[in-house]
Amino acid sequence: MTLPTHLQSMHLPLGDQRTGRFYGQDILSVAQFARDDLEYIFGVAEAMRTMVAHIGTFDLLKGKILANLFYEPSTRTSSSFLAAMERLGGSVIPINEVKYSSVSKGESLPDTVRTLECYADVIVLRHPETGAAAIAAQAARKPIINAGDGIGEHPTQALLDLFTIRQELGRVDGLTVTMLGDLKYGRTVHSLAKLLSLFNVTLNYVSPEILRMPADLIKQLETKGVLQREQRDLDSVLAESDVLYVTRVQKERFENLDEYESVKGAYVITPETMKRAKTKMAVMHPLPRVGEISPDVDSDSRAAYFRQMEYGLYVRMALLAMVLGKA
Ligand code: ASP
Ligand code: CP
Repeated sequence: MTLPTHLQSMHLPLGDQRTGRFYGQDILSVAQFARDDLEYIFGVAEAMRTMVAHIGTFDLLKGKILANLFYEPSTRTSSSFLAAMERLGGSVIPINEVKYSSVSKGESLPDTVRTLECYADVIVLRHPETGAAAIAAQAARKPIINAGDGIGEHPTQALLDLFTIRQELGRVDGLTVTMLGDLKYGRTVHSLAKLLSLFNVTLNYVSPEILRMPADLIKQLETKGVLQREQRDLDSVLAESDVLYVTRVQKERFENLDEYESVKGAYVITPETMKRAKTKMAVMHPLPRVGEISPDVDSDSRAAYFRQMEYGLYVRMALLAMVLGKA
């Protein structure tokens, strides 16, 4: 990689180390991260952001291959991992629709990952079943990155969410984060709440009764001393929120579609809502949105959800470089 002269004196924690934090490791759950890991990952992500801004694409992972294995639909996660690998000079085997792969002939998940690791150095997996990434990791010798396992976790999303909070608000300790919508089936809020428990935060959970945050997760965070409050009504906590993390009601997880219909429009963020929010705060959403945030909110400077997607690119570049021993 040739850096422009004005960047040569910068300290970028990138190089041909083939060791280092997370080298060769799976990324399965946010439970594997401590606070200093997050500092490290975000330092590398910052470096990636600088490199992308100045030189676009560079050869840190030249010759490396990523297999993108998606059993569920995705726009952001699949394309940002693909873009991350290509910006680092590597290449990608895209299996974005498993129905065109031998999965449709009945091939098991362990056999599928054993196949892909013959051709790739790292596998990114999204799967509808909770625990699928851990099962894949048991079968594979190469690193598995969990890109969402059912209603379980979405750890790389939580990392990019936390990176977004830091970038938008400059800190995490001391913040009040309100999670809104489908807290039962939403894997992003499960991962984010757990990751935030490493910080001194207050968590508000606002949802319809049938979509409450799982009780075992609340208990787990309680034992860590996290202040958590459950509400049905956003107005009771909106004015104190530094982050409003909005989620989509996860239609695909409902067995009974009438139940989905009864809650799908429960909360909608509009410019009126924003009038009652802090002047310095961030509205986030993992996306896709299907009506929870009115497009009229997009021009509000507090609407961080499009920037959040971009931050995801840098965080995923950092993770790929780390698990492949180059950061
Ligand atoms: N894209 C996120 C996920 O896959 C959130 C969502 O789909 O609502 O979990
Ligand atoms: N945030 C997220 O995971 O988006 P996709 O489902 O489009 O990948």
